[in-house]
Amino acid sequence: MTTDTHSACLTRIVDDLAEHGWSLQPQFITLTLTRKLAEECRQRAVQGALAPAGVGRGTQQQVREGVRGDHIQWLEPGQHPACDEYLQALDELRVALNQGLYLGLEDFEGHFALYPPGAFYQKHVDRFRDDDRRAVSVVFYLNDDWQAEQGGALRLYLPNGETRDVLPQAGSLLVFLSADMPHEVLPASRDRLSLTGWLRRRGNGPL
Ligand code: OGA
Ligand code: MN
Repeated sequence: MTTDTHSACLTRIVDDLAEHGWSLQPQFITLTLTRKLAEECRQRAVQGALAPAGVGRGTQQQVREGVRGDHIQWLEPGQHPACDEYLQALDELRVALNQGLYLGLEDFEGHFALYPPGAFYQKHVDRFRDDDRRAVSVVFYLNDDWQAEQGGALRLYLPNGETRDVLPQAGSLLVFLSADMPHEVLPASRDRLSLTGWLRRRGNGPL
């Protein structure tokens, strides 16, 4: 992908968020990089590095497969060149959102996620009651040739009462305002891989 189309993509995300509160870009980064990220996610799963995701925060965290059934591992810089490239692309998105919407986004936190067949994540909002730093949710999908009948859509509940189902198709990036958009992950008949994360503001509480 040329730099030019990438910056056009960033502009579309900024405009969509301003107008609708969400944006779906079918090819955020190259297919080559997307496949390397998918391969890395699979390798981590095989090595046992992905752990059942918890619900809640800090010491309150619990694994509850009736709420969410994905397995995750947090991304850290310097682990893998493909992950670093992805983090770089998200930093460019962070800067574009700050320039266009004055969101004051400071950093990104995110994880690989693998939903085994049948796993789901019940309807929720990406914000903790005691921590409002998560401002923009960013989900990047890693699954080649996803078919609608395989399930696994991310169902977004829009402020106007409509819903949108987004298939977890390789290369697609879904961005939405974390506070305003309840959503759920529907069960799928095959493994469902993604990189899910949040662009965060500075916290209000004591540091
Ligand atoms: C989440 C989430 C959506 C997805 O991890 O909070 O909503 O499509 N993930 O994987
Ligand atoms: Mn979520």
